[in-house]
Amino acid sequence: MTAKLIKGTEIREEILEEITGEVAEIKEKQGKVPGLVTILVGENPASQSYVTLKIKTAHRVGFKEVQDTRSEDISEQELLSLIDQYNQDDSIHGILVQLPLPKHIDEKKILNAIDPDKDVDGFHPVNVGRLMIGGDEVKFPPCTPAGIQEMIVRAGVETSGAETVVVGRSNIVGKPIANMMLQKGPGANSTVTVVHTRTKDMESHCKRADILIVAAGVPGLVKPEWIKPGACVIDVGVNRVGEKPSKKDPNKMVAILKGDVDFDAAKEIAGSITPVPGGVGPMTITMLMRNTLLSLKYRLGLV
Ligand code: GUN
Repeated sequence: MTAKLIKGTEIREEILEEITGEVAEIKEKQGKVPGLVTILVGENPASQSYVTLKIKTAHRVGFKEVQDTRSEDISEQELLSLIDQYNQDDSIHGILVQLPLPKHIDEKKILNAIDPDKDVDGFHPVNVGRLMIGGDEVKFPPCTPAGIQEMIVRAGVETSGAETVVVGRSNIVGKPIANMMLQKGPGANSTVTVVHTRTKDMESHCKRADILIVAAGVPGLVKPEWIKPGACVIDVGVNRVGEKPSKKDPNKMVAILKGDVDFDAAKEIAGSITPVPGGVGPMTITMLMRNTLLSLKYRLGLV
């Protein structure tokens, strides 16, 4: 059997088209556009490339976009004041502080200073609490888990009553996606198991999964024999396992990426599966755009 490929690159295009249409409509009727500020501290190359992609995507869907880049030596107090300035700014609906931050800055303190109603990353404890309660309480689901759920739904996979197994218990993927899949409501209603580094028999849990979500950060951790025939497999792992010459410019080296699942063998067993790259990756920024649009809609009383 060859699994159906769940392509994040294609789903991204569908969702960005939907967002672009909604932004144009709100602009025409109400004269407002979503405003997103991205705060980048320092010159971490991975952060710079994430931020560049966020800015490009925000422009594409018609947002007001502010890039605020600060030097590595900004003090914690200066960064807190900057966040306060954007908390007060009515043209800004989403504030994103790119992580990681330099060591002299307390990340938790910074994230907690963002107005929860502008926290489009969904990392503020208030939004984590809202997610836990579920239903109408949820304002900003965190972007990667929201992207995963959207992919499962758009692939037509039945979640209600399904055995969903999550591999990994991080605050940004494992814990929130487990929580989202067990809530009452469409795209959820699953029976959820979370396995992690201290789980005694990871394989036996994975073998039961109708939906297997893997976010462990260990290349090839999930073996093909762990997959139930016909299961939906979502691979969140993006592991750099080497370098190769770029197809566009053979003089340039690009990373070789591998997921947490042995894709080539797994696709012969699963019913549907996400590739790496081109699976979950493109969904994170897409859902950030959706959350920023949502933030404006909350402000305007449209939802
Ligand atoms: N750094 C890596 N991923 C993320 C993300 O999703 N949000 C923020 N704020 N920083 C990140």
